[in-house]
Amino acid sequence: MRILVIGSDGTLGSELLRQLKLNKLYTVYAYNKKKLDITLNEEIVKVFNKVKPQVVINCAAYTDVEKAEVEPAKAILVNGTSTKYLAEASNKIGAIFVHFSTDYVFNGEQNIPYTEKSKPNPLNIYGESKWLGEKYIKESTTRYFIIRTSWLFGRGEKKDFVDKILDLSEIQKDIPVITDQIGSPTYTVDLASATLALILTKNFGIYHIVNKGTASRYTFAQEVLRYSQKNVAQISKIDSGSYLYSAKRPKYSVLDCLLFSNVIGYELPNWRVGLSQYLKERRSGETFVRGQSSSKELW
Ligand SMILES: NC(=O)c1ccc[n+]([C@@H]2O[C@H](COP(=O)([O-])OP(=O)(O)OC[C@H]3O[C@@H](n4cnc5c(N)ncnc54)[C@H](OP(=O)(O)O)[C@@H]3O)[C@@H](O)[C@H]2O)c1
Repeated sequence: MRILVIGSDGTLGSELLRQLKLNKLYTVYAYNKKKLDITLNEEIVKVFNKVKPQVVINCAAYTDVEKAEVEPAKAILVNGTSTKYLAEASNKIGAIFVHFSTDYVFNGEQNIPYTEKSKPNPLNIYGESKWLGEKYIKESTTRYFIIRTSWLFGRGEKKDFVDKILDLSEIQKDIPVITDQIGSPTYTVDLASATLALILTKNFGIYHIVNKGTASRYTFAQEVLRYSQKNVAQISKIDSGSYLYSAKRPKYSVLDCLLFSNVIGYELPNWRVGLSQYLKERRSGETFVRGQSSSKELW
């Protein structure tokens, strides 16, 4: 199977690539932003005609939730319009199109997990732009997987929530973290393997895929310190009102994964299992190349 991974340097893209390369059944083509800028439609067409992929996995996205509020046109261009280009180009060559979306398409007013049938109503520009991308995909092709996920952590160049908490624990004795955002932290290793299993089913549509279990940002941060065996710093409780955000976040964005588990026959493990595994790997001396965070936001 010829698989094209776009946005291959991102947190999820690099993990998908790592797993794909372990399987000899796949011929994998990796395109990072340097090799393919998805805002350039003609470039997309050129690459698709050259590679002739049977599956296109799009991991490229504009993911800076705070910055999106000040440059909405860019967020919409990357997450909306460019997603349309990719879905149309996939349709034209008969490739399956796989795309990732977010829990931030929901407004968080529910107190039970959101299903694929729940109505999106994003609170911020990032969520709007990702929802627009979803709508364009549905208009452009029938052979698609839209996978909504949340609160990713894992190996990669960008600093995620886990890195930010660990960094702060080196310089602060007390780390205030909000209690009033509830979601499901998700390990990229689990999400990537679930995605690859789902693609093989050809059971197209929208899916929610997150690790089992829920957490507040506060609990997530506490567990990061506990599993990393750092007990010099402590996490203290604040509510989101005392945190200066530009972008509003949903208070509750837990995703219901029943559809995925019915189709695939298993559930993802609890996020604590993934977190503990991830931090153990980091402690065991594996080298992680991590760059600077693109913004100062903690979540
Ligand atoms: N991270 C989360 O917590 C989370 C939660 C829910 C859903 N998701 C979704 O999951 C997917 C993967 O997220 P991630 O965390 O892996 O994101 P990420 O680490 O920010 O990776 C996104 C990649 O896309 C690249 N990119 C940006 N603009 C591009 C363009 N015009 N052309 C080509 N590449 C471009 C980025 O390059 P630069 O960094 O150089 O710009 C980066 O390598 C995204 O669709 C995201 O919306 C993520």
